[in-house]
Amino acid sequence: MTVTPNPDEVFYRGGDSFFNAHADIGLTFDDVTLATQYSDILPSQTLLDSRLAETLRLNIPVVSADMDTVTESRLAIAMALNGGLGLIHYNMPEKDQLHEVSRVKYHVQGLIQDPIKVTSDQLIGDVLKLIEEKNFGFSTFPVVDDKGALVGLLSGHVVKPRYAAKRVSEALTPRAQVHTVSRRELGNDPITIADRFFTENVGIHKLLVVDDDDRLHGLITMSDVEKIIQERKAQFKPARDSQFRLICGAAVSATRNAFGELDKERILNHIGDLVERGIDVVAVSTAHGHSKGVGDTVKVVRDAFPQLPIIAGNVTSAAGVDYLADCGANVIKVGQGPGSICTTRVVAGVGIPQMTALYVCSKAALEKKVSILADGGITKSGDIVKALTLAQGVICGGMFAGCTEAPGEIVEIGGKLYKQYRGMGSLSAMKAGSAARYGHDKADTTRKVAAEGVEALKEACGPVDRVLASLIGGIQSGMGYLGAKDLAQLRERARYIRVSPAGQREAAPHDVVELKTRN
Ligand code: XMP
Repeated sequence: MTVTPNPDEVFYRGGDSFFNAHADIGLTFDDVTLATQYSDILPSQTLLDSRLAETLRLNIPVVSADMDTVTESRLAIAMALNGGLGLIHYNMPEKDQLHEVSRVKYHVQGLIQDPIKVTSDQLIGDVLKLIEEKNFGFSTFPVVDDKGALVGLLSGHVVKPRYAAKRVSEALTPRAQVHTVSRRELGNDPITIADRFFTENVGIHKLLVVDDDDRLHGLITMSDVEKIIQERKAQFKPARDSQFRLICGAAVSATRNAFGELDKERILNHIGDLVERGIDVVAVSTAHGHSKGVGDTVKVVRDAFPQLPIIAGNVTSAAGVDYLADCGANVIKVGQGPGSICTTRVVAGVGIPQMTALYVCSKAALEKKVSILADGGITKSGDIVKALTLAQGVICGGMFAGCTEAPGEIVEIGGKLYKQYRGMGSLSAMKAGSAARYGHDKADTTRKVAAEGVEALKEACGPVDRVLASLIGGIQSGMGYLGAKDLAQLRERARYIRVSPAGQREAAPHDVVELKTRN
């Protein structure tokens, strides 16, 4: 008796069967599609948390790329507030990178530990100048004496040009009328105490924190407290460390000294400073991670900082994953040449289409008990769903480069708004510092060095919140179609099929005049 094979199993195959059957071809996102599965999961019920390393957990599996036109503190703050992670790039002096990291780690909503203060003898005009110079978005300041003791509060409604010639002492609300709470009373739950205070004291929006000697130790604003309380109800909570600070990562390069040797001392000193500032993960970011320089860097960092999560890359082979995992990396970046600004495949003839690379690397990662990040080439939420069937997270550059929070100014061309986006292997980025990432010396970059990235523009696309909301919506839809309630089930339930060129055309809007583009 002949048994008729189950057509679903013949056509829609699990990862091992599908990728082994296509071992002779490199496949990327648009080459495959996922088959739907029976589902009793609504998209809104799906969970997106991802554990990258023992102490590195994200609430959404999305990381912003360590590129100088993508991730600095503003974008990293927005990523972490949305539950993801930003990797601060290294195309800046080390001390500037430390400063950027501090900005993320001390972006404490709720208690501002070290509020900007003024003194009684200053003029209101000086305060106005300070606000303009520093671009402060607030105008109420505690007033302190030279010992840091609280003298009063300068309210925003008196910080006006009309009063510029007056002294702060003439305009402040005196100490006796300022609402304060003692540091001791705040204990471990400042937000609940402050929330109760603001409810009981109608119209008061600021609460100052003092010690027993009346020295100022912080400022709590009602709007921050409300944001935090709101946040507790959000489906995807901000990604925070054990001390309730936003999480943040920083890229480091395999820096060499004048003799061409790995500059271990400099690398370790810088990472020590990053750790002191509370960094949650460092990323040893290079174009060729399966190389001695990267492996040695990972080893020295692992020896010196046994608990620090390390991301390393990039690789596209199982041997590359094995190597970096053996050197001590917890998370491996996968991707060589898929990026929207990359020319590595054109220039060097090297690299692997992303879905095949992810499958190959995922096999080694499983063995080595490390996680992988799909780095580059993501242009739509469907690509992320496909990547997440094999990886624990994705890294996006181009998707965020047009965001308000990305570095750089908006430029207008032909009535449209753009932001600059460049490859870290473009000549201009390498001159600015990223040459080591591509195995070159910074001084080399004008001669005999082929750029592996282009300089480009991305259409301005508004705040990160908006971009992430639409990406998350897409990921959740994909998971709903596959009946996957979390990312582990997504990996388990994925069934793939190859798409023909006609199938690719069919997948996008066609034979219509599009009035409104997708998101
Ligand atoms: P997307 O597609 O998100 O890619 O814009 C971002 C990723 O691309 C990598 N990257 C480069 N790759 N030449 C390359 O070959 C470059 O100049 C370059 N710059 C960035 C990087 O992995 C990033 O996360």
